[in-house]
Amino acid sequence: MGVLRVVFLGPPGAGKGTQAKFLEQKFGACLVGTGEILRKAVRERSPLGRKAVQYLDRGDLVPDHVMVKLVAERLRARDCQSGFILDGFPRTIAQADGLEPMLKDIGLALDSALCIQAPNEVIIQRLSGRRTCKVCGSLYHVVFDPLARAGKCDRCGGELYQREDDREEMIAARLRVYESQTAPLKEYYCRRGLLKEIDGVGNVEEVRNRVFRALGAVAT
Ligand code: AP5
Repeated sequence: MGVLRVVFLGPPGAGKGTQAKFLEQKFGACLVGTGEILRKAVRERSPLGRKAVQYLDRGDLVPDHVMVKLVAERLRARDCQSGFILDGFPRTIAQADGLEPMLKDIGLALDSALCIQAPNEVIIQRLSGRRTCKVCGSLYHVVFDPLARAGKCDRCGGELYQREDDREEMIAARLRVYESQTAPLKEYYCRRGLLKEIDGVGNVEEVRNRVFRALGAVAT
């Protein structure tokens, strides 16, 4: 397959960001991770970051109109013309409804909505051990990924940190938000014939192979 245009769905910690990075490398598509964009804005104390911080701190969703505007601007950029991977957007029916005219405007259509599934006990284990590079956003895990133990990013040397919203009480709040606001998107994309459900249990390579198979591509 050539140009890739996909959205990633699935609960927090299912492995969306990890798999999205593989697709970025394989297809050269533009990776738009809304959570990472928001966290960067918060770190830089930009106007978007000042608006978003209160929602991120509670594990709540940033309002739809803010997110739709942000993604519309990003998708209009030239690099997204050669394919895109949306990780973390859409997260509500209103956002999905906002995405359709956005794509129409720029003359693009979605290929697939990839939904990675994992049970809560797997999610909690993954999120509580996650470490993220402050500089390049690379993902590590203190149990599953020995590279994380050095405390520095293997790719760029940046410092690894634990996300505030990966504390246990926040994980529970995020799972509730996922169930009530984001899970209905499965039905939304199923009705459009775009949903591809992927079992997220297993190691990173096993899940990667399932994602590639779902897209009709070979993992190399
Ligand atoms: P966001 O950053 O999108 O967080 P999320 O959806 O909760 O997803 P995560 O990043 O927590 O998990 P993931 O599925 O990507 O898992 P990962 O690959 O890292 O959003 C954060 C916040 O921003 C939201 O709560 C909200 O406030 C706001 N926001 C963002 N988008 C928004 C929107 N559209 N609208 C409104 N608000 C929005 O993996 C997790 C860990 O497990 C890692 O350590 C990884 O190394 C490890 N791992 C991954 N796969 C495997 C595997 N197969 N085996 C073992 N370990 C694995």
